[in-house]
Amino acid sequence: MTDEVWTTVERYITDTLVRPDAALDAALAASDAAGLPAINVSPNQGKLLQMLALMLGAKRILEIGTLGGYSTIWMARALPPGGRLVTLETDRKHADLARRNIDAAGVGALVDIELGPALDTLPKLAARSREPFDLIFIDADKTSTVPYFEWALKLSRAGSLIVVDNVVRKGAVTDPQSSDKDVQGMRRFYDRLVNEPRVTATAIQTVGTKGYDGFAIALVKA
Ligand code: SAH
Ligand code: DHB
Ligand code: MG
Repeated sequence: MTDEVWTTVERYITDTLVRPDAALDAALAASDAAGLPAINVSPNQGKLLQMLALMLGAKRILEIGTLGGYSTIWMARALPPGGRLVTLETDRKHADLARRNIDAAGVGALVDIELGPALDTLPKLAARSREPFDLIFIDADKTSTVPYFEWALKLSRAGSLIVVDNVVRKGAVTDPQSSDKDVQGMRRFYDRLVNEPRVTATAIQTVGTKGYDGFAIALVKA
């Protein structure tokens, strides 16, 4: 099995099951034109995030790591009128382009972009948040996944879902000697996750246009 067949199958799945969306395509085209890295979620993963939000009846969504707003738009499209998505991004260029992409997609009124390192914006968000988030998507710098997960727990309720991207890293995650800081960050996250009694969790490997990676999901029980 090669990247080529993964890519072909992802295109088949996407062309067959994922309805084309001009705003999502435009967001990717604008991100590419602006030189942003193509590290957004794939279309079929974006649709999964959207479906999870729909299953949860999510009214409040938190995202850590906005990039050009591609995953943001997928999830915001699941919100009811009056719903809210807060997305955290440290890079001003990414945040500015995301703002334009999200507004052009017609979901701008539902989305707040908080500029700054997430470990600075999360305490401020917690201080002013009155209601918990129903869905939290962690997809920023991998070294801080454990602190992001701690904040996600603080900002959630029983029944909230926490999704964490990039938990496999081409399989490197199984290497305890890895010199890759991102891999070490993810290994610390697995250790933290298995020792957290308030959640039940699993992880799924993925292949496709984004290579070989995976995501974890943690359901908050209490
Ligand atoms: N969720 C996006 C992809 C995010 S890529 C999508 O699927 O479409 C990761 C993003 O996290 C990048 O834009 C990067 O600038 C941002 N990031 C990195 N470190 C961060 C930090 N400390 N705080 C907030 N955002 C950060
Ligand atoms: C990288 C980050 C991501 O969020 C992702 O989905 C893929 C790659 C990266 O930093 O390389
Ligand atoms: Mg990612």
